[in-house]
Amino acid sequence: MNSRRTRIYEGKAKIIYEGPEPNTVIVHFKDDATAFNAEKKAVIEGKGVLNQRISEFLFTKLNDIGLPTHFLRSLNMREQLVREVEIIPLEVVVRNVAAGSLAKRLGLEEGTALPRSIIECYYKNDKLGDPMVNEEHITAFGWATPMELDDIMHMSIRINDFLTGLFLGIGIKLVDFKLEFGRFVENDMMRIVLADEISPDCCRLWDMRNNNAKMDKDIFRRDLGNLVDAYHEVAKRLGIIQPNEQPERSKPKLVKTDL
Ligand code: TMP
Repeated sequence: MNSRRTRIYEGKAKIIYEGPEPNTVIVHFKDDATAFNAEKKAVIEGKGVLNQRISEFLFTKLNDIGLPTHFLRSLNMREQLVREVEIIPLEVVVRNVAAGSLAKRLGLEEGTALPRSIIECYYKNDKLGDPMVNEEHITAFGWATPMELDDIMHMSIRINDFLTGLFLGIGIKLVDFKLEFGRFVENDMMRIVLADEISPDCCRLWDMRNNNAKMDKDIFRRDLGNLVDAYHEVAKRLGIIQPNEQPERSKPKLVKTDL
């Protein structure tokens, strides 16, 4: 698109550009996939568009139930206009079923239902490999105030309740997911909103109609097959994509596989 736009920041899967209106930015969803802190990389054509469309759908639903998000509107298939926020340097992971790093850390079998939903926080710092932190670290180092953290926890529980039901209704188990939050000033008050994205890149989604088959980025992390087909199926079940619409097709180009 417009090459004269000012790029503010480029991350692993998204680029942030200056927005057309004050206090807004444009989020561009790339086709790049990374895992294990970018040690494994590929470009998967069509992933960015699917993530943008799925995230747009879910953020719109959350805005509709009064859960504040940074999302304003989609600009095209790959880009959305969002409110400019200061990102709180935390990755908030909500878990319903044991999987991934929790299963490994505690020696649980993947797929074990947890006694209740569990929220974990990780300090967003690639150099340190996003270490897990607790409330003490977060408030002592000033990454979030106790009140902000309280808001973040309540919002995370609400998002989990809403999304679990939404996915259950289309035969998908929401195993776990990662959220990010941002703050901005409104009428002299600091407000917290959900930021970043919610897409199969940052969720674990298991297909209850197909033996709990993975429909998320674990397909890429663990080399389990065609990621775009799975994301496409998620979008189709959410009603974002028409049943006869075909996914963009291309083989993932592996850049580095020494893991
Ligand atoms: P984990 O089991 O590897 O800790 O991942 C928990 C959830 O967080 C899972 O849904 C994938 C998501 N996630 C991200 O979105 N980004 C990350 O960098 C990591 C490690 C996990």
